[in-house]
Amino acid sequence: MASFKFIPFSFFYIALLLLVGFASAEDPFATYDLVVSYITASPLGVPQQVIAVNGKFPGPTINVTTNYNVVINVKNKLDEELLMHWSGIFMRKNSWEDGVLGTNCPIPPKWNWTYNFQVKDQIGSFYYFPSLHFQKASGGFGPIIVNNRAIIPIPFDTPYGDITIMIGDWYTQNHTALRRALNSGKSLGMPDGVLINGKGPYRYNETLVPDGIDHETIEVHPGKTYRIRVSNVGISTSLNFRIQNHNLLLAEAEGSYTVQQNYTSLDIHAGQSYSFLVTMDQNASSDYYIVASARQVNQTTWQKVTGVAILHYTNSKGKASGPLPDPPSDEFDKTFSMNQARSIRWNVTASGARPNPQGSFRYGSINVTEIYVLRNEPPVTINGKRRATLNGISFVNPETPIRLADQYKVKNVYKLDFPNKPITGPPRMETSIINGTYRGFIELIFQNNDTKMQTYHLDGYNFFVVGMDFGEWSENSRGTYNKWDGVARTTAQVYPGAWTAVLASLDSVGVWNLRAENLDSWYLGQETYIKVVNPEDSSNKTELPMPDNVLYCGALKKMQKPQDISFAAPIMGNGSQLLFTVLLLLITLIYIPSHQ
Ligand SMILES: *[C@@H]1O[C@H](CO)[C@@H](O)[C@H](O)[C@H]1NC(C)=O
Ligand SMILES: *[C@@H]1O[C@H](CO)[C@@H](O)[C@H](O)[C@H]1NC(C)=O
Ligand SMILES: *[C@@H]1O[C@H](CO)[C@@H](O)[C@H](O)[C@H]1NC(C)=O
Ligand SMILES: *[C@@H]1O[C@H](CO)[C@@H](O)[C@H](O)[C@H]1NC(C)=O
Ligand SMILES: *[C@@H]1O[C@H](CO)[C@@H](O)[C@H](O)[C@H]1NC(C)=O
Ligand SMILES: *[C@@H]1O[C@H](CO)[C@@H](O)[C@H](O)[C@H]1NC(C)=O
Ligand SMILES: *[C@@H]1O[C@H](CO)[C@@H](O)[C@H](O)[C@H]1NC(C)=O
Ligand SMILES: *[C@@H]1O[C@H](CO)[C@@H](O)[C@H](O)[C@H]1NC(C)=O
Ligand SMILES: *[C@@H]1O[C@H](CO)[C@@H](O)[C@H](O)[C@H]1NC(C)=O
Ligand SMILES: *[C@@H]1O[C@H](CO)[C@@H](O)[C@H](O)[C@H]1NC(C)=O
Ligand SMILES: *[C@@H]1O[C@H](CO)[C@@H](O)[C@H](O)[C@H]1NC(C)=O
Ligand SMILES: *[C@@H]1O[C@H](CO)[C@@H](O)[C@H](O)[C@H]1NC(C)=O
Repeated sequence: MASFKFIPFSFFYIALLLLVGFASAEDPFATYDLVVSYITASPLGVPQQVIAVNGKFPGPTINVTTNYNVVINVKNKLDEELLMHWSGIFMRKNSWEDGVLGTNCPIPPKWNWTYNFQVKDQIGSFYYFPSLHFQKASGGFGPIIVNNRAIIPIPFDTPYGDITIMIGDWYTQNHTALRRALNSGKSLGMPDGVLINGKGPYRYNETLVPDGIDHETIEVHPGKTYRIRVSNVGISTSLNFRIQNHNLLLAEAEGSYTVQQNYTSLDIHAGQSYSFLVTMDQNASSDYYIVASARQVNQTTWQKVTGVAILHYTNSKGKASGPLPDPPSDEFDKTFSMNQARSIRWNVTASGARPNPQGSFRYGSINVTEIYVLRNEPPVTINGKRRATLNGISFVNPETPIRLADQYKVKNVYKLDFPNKPITGPPRMETSIINGTYRGFIELIFQNNDTKMQTYHLDGYNFFVVGMDFGEWSENSRGTYNKWDGVARTTAQVYPGAWTAVLASLDSVGVWNLRAENLDSWYLGQETYIKVVNPEDSSNKTELPMPDNVLYCGALKKMQKPQDISFAAPIMGNGSQLLFTVLLLLITLIYIPSHQ
């Protein structure tokens, strides 16, 4: 089934390494070719334009291990610009490969671009997606798994199997149409459904689900325990995830092993990922429902915004039937959901990428060096346009990416003046970013003054989620912070009328995106960047050099050489790539002995 492959470290890669000129030679390489193109699919029974990766929706899994050098050749077969973003991957000292507009020029249609990065200091479950032009609403996403190195044990018995599930709200309109709606000041309204691994709901109710919709089936062996990794890749809807009659033993949240606790259902907000250990301990008298339903909305009106897949035991005697398992019955009270979020704790004795993280790093005793209160308000109109703001600033992406502008000393691209609290004047549109202090410890307080749920994500780092509560944050709120086992993750939810506080150690040089994961808020300008420079670095050791294949645009457009599309077009498929590798290995084997 793999349309990509992992080729172990070899002489071939030493040769490649010398050519590419980067990274630690002792660590293995993983190479992937991802071809991004449109397909026609009908996940909710209506044919529509969907973005596939290697012909698949969702795309293939990027499955790597801490310290791997990852080489991903992305080919853009869309009719518009593309950037693939590896959400949650730290890109240590290497924001050049992050795949967002603040650091990279877009890959033009018909071009390809190779991302080169090393996965450092992290493990866990994440996903990739196209970061431009609302494309994520049409797909283009797929799972990323970062495994523990062999010498670092996982804090549970090795599961029998590893299953990825991508859930998300979905519109039958394509991303071009959705973008047009947002550009003309409309809101997107209720989604048309929820997809599970790119497929529509199982027909659990003949009135509610039309005939002819393809659903996802997950096959399992009775008695076995699986690690099920679930990511909400949708636009904005918070989803309650549950498996009929099965406990979800929470084990990981975006790269942190958690204290293991059973949940009958868990709220997964836009952009969030979790791993559950699920034991197939039920009788096989029938299949079971896997459900992802819209959360904290009127269940009557939002009934169709429900994803339903099937958990099928190999010895199952029949189909799943009857009503779906109930969601929590607290549609209009968010307390239960917030308490559930607070119950997610870091297992401080479990090893992740580094042995015993808490032994050497106690976040609760580090002094905060900078504080930003970031306030989300309902969308506003600026210069006649509907925009979303943080602290009254609606971000405008620069023509020249921030990191590239710094490299070539292009002036007046952005301002390092992002306000540390909401501005008092009228909201404005600006390319304003945060001046981060290298090795500083930043406190970010997200205050959600909108009536909709929000989630926020920081690239380049994980942050400790230390507190959340309803009402306005104040200095006194710090007394409620969890200073010991707050989970370190990359995405945090902020309940309407509430705040969430996170702490992050700015130890990685680069320009890092801080954004609303809610795709419409992000599209309308709810983002900024944190720029982190090492003032004492004269030898460039704290940041990786600009890659040789960097793309130029904006003020530097003239520096861009055209790409030989005829050469790049046939990205080698399975067979030819294998042949190519074998040939190179043969050449290496013949070459090396004769030169010793
Ligand atoms: C996207 O949707 C718009 C509006 O419904 C439609 O005009 C357009 O043809 C669609 N594009 C594709 C490639 O399906
Ligand atoms: C990921 O790769 C490892 C080998 O490095 C393999 O053991 C594991 O089964 C793979 N996981 C998935 C989900 O493909
Ligand atoms: C495009 O792909 C080709 C191989 O198909 C590769 O040699 C080339 O380096 C890629 N271009 C970039 C800019 O990554
Ligand atoms: C935490 O991790 C340790 C070390 O791997 C493990 O033995 C323990 O069971 C975990 N505790 C919980 C509550 O998950
Ligand atoms: C199907 O859903 C409708 C609408 O909620 C409900 O009235 C009906 O009882 C359901 N049918 C079954 C068989 O559960
Ligand atoms: C979780 O639930 C399973 C049953 O599904 C049970 O065997 C296990 O002991 C529970 N674990 C915890 C930590 O509560
Ligand atoms: C199997 O489990 C279902 C659901 O818990 C239960 O209703 C049924 O009675 C069980 N059947 C047997 C044969 O144990
Ligand atoms: C939910 O929606 C239904 C149908 O529109 C409506 O009748 C009902 O009053 C709503 N419930 C609440 C609590 O608002
Ligand atoms: C934190 O700040 C306090 C008071 O300013 C100071 O006494 C303490 O040494 C600082 N701790 C660290 C680890 O720098
Ligand atoms: C950014 O912060 C650094 C200290 O970290 C300071 O030296 C510099 O002057 C600041 N730049 C601006 C424009 O505020
Ligand atoms: C928004 O802020 C105003 C003024 O502080 C406050 O009165 C209102 O309750 C807030 N609304 C929400 C949803 O937080
Ligand atoms: C550091 O990087 C800059 C920009 O790439 C380059 O101009 C400079 O020569 C480098 N310095 C060293 C010591 O390598």
